[in-house]
Amino acid sequence: MSSLQTPEFEQLRIADLHAFYGESHILHGIDLQVRRGELVTLLGRNGSGRSTTLRAIMNMVGRRTGSIVVNGNETIGLSAHLIPRLGVGYCPEERGIFASLNVEENLLLPPAVRSNGMSLDEIYEMFPNLYERRFSQGTRLSGGEQQMLAMARILRTGANLLLLDEITEGLAPVIVQKLAEVLIKLKHKGLTIVLVEQNFRFAAPLADRHYLMEHGQIVEQISAAELGAKQELLHSCLGV
Ligand SMILES: Nc1ncnc2c1ncn2[C@@H]1O[C@H](COP(=O)(O)OP(=O)(O)OP(=O)(O)O)[C@@H](O)[C@H]1O
Ligand SMILES: [Mg+2]
Repeated sequence: MSSLQTPEFEQLRIADLHAFYGESHILHGIDLQVRRGELVTLLGRNGSGRSTTLRAIMNMVGRRTGSIVVNGNETIGLSAHLIPRLGVGYCPEERGIFASLNVEENLLLPPAVRSNGMSLDEIYEMFPNLYERRFSQGTRLSGGEQQMLAMARILRTGANLLLLDEITEGLAPVIVQKLAEVLIKLKHKGLTIVLVEQNFRFAAPLADRHYLMEHGQIVEQISAAELGAKQELLHSCLGV
């Protein structure tokens, strides 16, 4: 693994990223940078390439070209299993928890790939619902509890860059509110977050910046301060 100097404590730097599934060319030259402690969103319509961007960072697409530097390490040539070791935690849309195990068993399973993974106590403090449900099997959890468990498992690994794909999808407003509180706490801890989100109302108050995607490209970058002025553009691109 070659180590590169990253300016301004940059945690993720993507340049000219192309991604392919078989013959399908999905991402067409993505450039994005995320600084340590920032929360940025990837916004866009269905099929615009947001999930593919996260999967490409994890090397879970058919093929990818360009440059993806994580914590100073170029990863474009790395196999998928080495990428979490650089501190990247990926929460896919399908959550990926073990349905046959209970909450605590799920939490004890992920390997601590980095030294600073959260302890069980810290997890239970951040997610009190999981403490109450610690002996419940995965299949018995509500959608919100499953989502919290999926995020908690990533935090156990010691990841400091979180890639979260539509974590609020299908959840009740009260759970969505709890997830917002969790993201704020994680930000305060200094974690860096890339959030793919359909629920703009959830994402807008949390995010420092937004990347707007269309047809596998980033068409606009909007800072939190510019949101008001760019309402019309957002409306036309997202229907929000
Ligand atoms: N495994 C795959 N094989 C071939 N094409 C795929 C595959 N997964 C996604 N695609 C295509 O890639 C494009 C981008 O999909 P992606 O999942 O990144 O979209 P998205 O922005 O996350 O939107 P949504 O989650 O709403 O579908 C779509 O045209 C989709 O059909
Ligand atoms: Mg998606």
